[in-house]
Amino acid sequence: MSQFEEEYEDLVGPTKKELFSQFIPADARSLSILDVGAGTLPNAKYFQDMAVTAVDPNQEMWPYARASAARHGVRSLTLVNGVAESLPFADGSFDRAVCTLVLCSVADVGAAVRELHRVLRPGGKLLFLEHVVAGQERPLLRLSQTLLNPLQRALADGCNLIRDPLKSIRSERFQLEEERYFFIPALGLIGPHVSGIAVR
Ligand SMILES: C[S@@+](CC[C@H](N)C(=O)[O-])C[C@H]1O[C@@H](n2cnc3c(N)ncnc32)[C@H](O)[C@@H]1O
Repeated sequence: MSQFEEEYEDLVGPTKKELFSQFIPADARSLSILDVGAGTLPNAKYFQDMAVTAVDPNQEMWPYARASAARHGVRSLTLVNGVAESLPFADGSFDRAVCTLVLCSVADVGAAVRELHRVLRPGGKLLFLEHVVAGQERPLLRLSQTLLNPLQRALADGCNLIRDPLKSIRSERFQLEEERYFFIPALGLIGPHVSGIAVR
């Protein structure tokens, strides 16, 4: 993990810990887990003893993902080259899907959310945590995000500052079990976040 990733994980740690404990109860280690846009697999710390399938189009992340899985006692890790908009799995393949800091970068948020819905079994759950466009209560930040979005996209691998994927999650027939907007001042332009759990 880069220094930024480590600092970021520290900042969102309490929120993630709370969400994951609701999402994967301690006695539910046999659930099948899909982590989409898994990157270096910072979420491995929540997958102890579990079988995890991790999808990412950037294979340079894979050695780090394997190391993270080993460090955190993931039972088995299957790495798959793919994108969220076209997941290479049959309908209803997973009990749980995880998407953290990914929907800012995908080419088509609607297609990605539809695919997440499709590969979950009925009653399966999606955990999401994403940075989003600032709300009306932070007009200056929202303006800065809008003006700097082209630069951010160019410098940060297509990452967008001005999205809000909750709208797509709502419109994709998911039921929201948990949803929360929150702000992390130390993160500046990517301070506004949304997180939650959606049920298929
Ligand atoms: C900011 S990292 C997030 C990694 C990890 N999920 C986390 O919480 O830190 C974004 C990841 O999404 C991946 N990615 C980019 N476009 C994608 C797409 N269309 N589908 C799936 N993953 C994608 C990138 O390769 C990168 O590993």
